[in-house]
Amino acid sequence: MLIHNLYFKNFRNYSEQEITFTNGINILVGSNGQGKTNVLEGIYYLLMGKSYRVNQESELIYWGQKNFYLRANFEAYERKYCLESYYEKGKKAIKINQLACQKLSEYVGMINVVFFTPDDLNIIKSGPLERRRFIDLLLIQVKPAHISLLNTYIRILKQKSILLKRSLNKAAANDQLLVWNEQLLETGSRVIRNRYEMTEKLQNQCGKMFSKVFGCHENMDLQYVSLGRKSLDEALAYFPEALEKQRDAEIERRAVLVGPHRDDIIVNINGRSARYYASQGQQRSLVLCLKLAEMEIINKEKEEYPILLLDDVLSELDEGRREYLMEYISNSNKQTMITTTDLGQIEKQKDPAVYIVKQGTIRRES
Ligand SMILES: Nc1ncnc2c1ncn2[C@@H]1O[C@H](COP(=O)(O)OP(=O)(O)OP(=O)(O)O)[C@@H](O)[C@H]1O
Ligand SMILES: [Mg+2]
Repeated sequence: MLIHNLYFKNFRNYSEQEITFTNGINILVGSNGQGKTNVLEGIYYLLMGKSYRVNQESELIYWGQKNFYLRANFEAYERKYCLESYYEKGKKAIKINQLACQKLSEYVGMINVVFFTPDDLNIIKSGPLERRRFIDLLLIQVKPAHISLLNTYIRILKQKSILLKRSLNKAAANDQLLVWNEQLLETGSRVIRNRYEMTEKLQNQCGKMFSKVFGCHENMDLQYVSLGRKSLDEALAYFPEALEKQRDAEIERRAVLVGPHRDDIIVNINGRSARYYASQGQQRSLVLCLKLAEMEIINKEKEEYPILLLDDVLSELDEGRREYLMEYISNSNKQTMITTTDLGQIEKQKDPAVYIVKQGTIRRES
C-alpha cells in the first residue's frame, strides 16, 4: 500500500503545502516544533478518520482559520484512490474518488496504516483502556465490521447505564435490565471473541520478532483477559453467569460492571508484568514489537504491507534495535515515513527521500 502525495490546506501549522512521497523510505527531518509529526497526523487522519492526538477536529485547523482540507493519492492492489477530507464548523466531508462517504466503515481499512509514536508507550504503561484501544484499532483495520460492532456495544452500554442511573426501585430495574443484558451478552461476546483472536495472532507474531529485537534470552507474552478469564471459551461460558451475579451490585452502584469494556491485555516480559517491571527501554522495544507485529498481521490478512509511520522512534532505541528496525523497513515492499531531528541516525540507508521541514514548509532535499 502506498501514498503518492499529500496536499494540506490550513491543517495544523501548514497553511498550504504539497508533498510527493517515494515508494520506499521517506525521512522528514527538522528541529523541534517545525511540523514533522503534523505530516504523519495528516496521513493518519485521512486513513482512519480520526486524529491520533486529539478528539476535537477544530484543534487541527490552522490557528485563525475556519476550516481545513486534506487530499492524498493512495494505491493498493494496483488500484488508485484519491481521499479528501474537509472540516468546517463541526462537520466533516469525506470523499473517495470524488464520491461522498457517509460512514467510517466505508473507507477505514481500505488502505492500512501502522503508526508508531512516542505516546504509544502508554500501551504498556497506562491502564487497560489504552490496550483495548490498541487492539480495537488493529481489528478495525483488518475487519471493518468491528467498527459497527463496537458502536452497537457502546450504544447498549450507554442505555444500560442510563437505566441504572435513573432506576428508582429494584424490581422495575430488574425487568428492564434483563432486556439490556441480553443484548449486552450477544454483542459483548462478539467483541470478546474478536479481541481474543487478535491477541493470539499478535502473540504469535511478537514471539517471533521479540527474540530478534531483544536477544534470545528474553520472552514476551500477551494474554487477553475478559471477566478475569484467560481463555475465550471460559470467558464466554462465564459471561451470562457474571451478568446474573453482578445484577444487584450494578443496581446498587448504578454502574455497568460486567462486559468487555472492563477487559485488559496482560503484557508480560520474562513472566512478569511489563507495566510494572519492564525498564523504559524494554517498554519501548515491546511497543516496537507490537507495531511490527501489526505490520505482519495486516500483510498476512490483506496481502500487502500497510504504510508505516514512525514518529521520532530512532532517538529512543539503542544501536542494535535501531539497526534491526532499519533492516526491517528496508526489506520488501514497505513504504515508510520517519521523522527525526538528526539525519545522522539514518545515514547508512540506501536512497531514502529526505525532506527538510521548517516552520510549516517542506522541501525535498534528495
Ligand atoms: N492548529 C494549529 N495551528 C497552527 N499551528 C499549530 C497547530 N497545532 C499545532 N501547531 C504547531 O505546529 C508545530 C509543529 O508541530 P509538530 O508536532 O508537527 O512538530 P515536530 O516537527 O514533530 O516537532 P518535534 O520534533 O518536537 O516532535 C508546533 O510548533 C505547534 O505549535
Ligand atoms: Mg514530532
